[in-house]
Amino acid sequence: MTNVKIQMTKPTVQDILQRKGKSKLVMLTCYDYSFAGLLDSSGVDIILVGDSLANVVLGLKETRNVSFSEMLNHTRAVVKGAPNSLVIADMPFVSYQKNPLKCLDYAKKFMAAGAGGVKIEWFPYVSGRGCPYVVKKLIKNGIPVMGHIGLTPQTAHLLGGFKVQGRTPDSARALLAQAKLLEGLGVFSLVLECIPVKLAGKITAGLTIPTISCGAGPYCDGQVLVLYDMLGLYDKIRPRFVRRYGRLDNTVKSAVKRFIRDVRGRHYPSLKESFTA
Ligand code: KIV
Repeated sequence: MTNVKIQMTKPTVQDILQRKGKSKLVMLTCYDYSFAGLLDSSGVDIILVGDSLANVVLGLKETRNVSFSEMLNHTRAVVKGAPNSLVIADMPFVSYQKNPLKCLDYAKKFMAAGAGGVKIEWFPYVSGRGCPYVVKKLIKNGIPVMGHIGLTPQTAHLLGGFKVQGRTPDSARALLAQAKLLEGLGVFSLVLECIPVKLAGKITAGLTIPTISCGAGPYCDGQVLVLYDMLGLYDKIRPRFVRRYGRLDNTVKSAVKRFIRDVRGRHYPSLKESFTA
């Protein structure tokens, strides 16, 4: 087993920037206090309260349907459980794409809840205001922003569905331009989701900020996975890039079945597990 150095002080956005070209960044999503404690003490670099909360926790079909208050509540829980981690809150669709003018009010609420920054998906223009407007506004107001380009689930319906992006010369050029623009606006890192491996490598090599792969291959500066996918807790959709590091689905089912057997067979609770007067 390789020795993994666990950093026990909360990394800053500057620490993340300085990792570019030095050591790979590890990010996992998380949605609750108990898992946050486990991730925090295992030494991940960044915990993302992803809007994948919609799918894996709330059972919603689309991430764009998660509400701001749901995201805020889960961010609060994760922050409490992960005092040593940089926690990034994923801005839900409703907090910036529906009305870009309101983005700062919502982002400030995440920061007040203890997040160290927010993540913004690239999105097309709404009433003349697009992703650059939102990113500029947040950064100008001192809020660290992580960008997200490629397959952006909140607007997947505009991208032809959940498909790899950047396969044509035009769309590859567009992604390169988005990455450069976001870097210029001051984002501290950039998630590349479902982008062909060579293009992701080219984007990574052309930036001074770290890129984080989510289905963008090994040439990025870091990797993120949805925690429930990685642990084998959620199997409704299993993208090709997901590697399972556990089968908690089986672990949970077998524990629940043993509990049922013990209760029905009158083996639990025993007198030892009960109180006397
Ligand atoms: O919401 C999410 O889980 C995400 C990542 C997987 C990048 O945005």
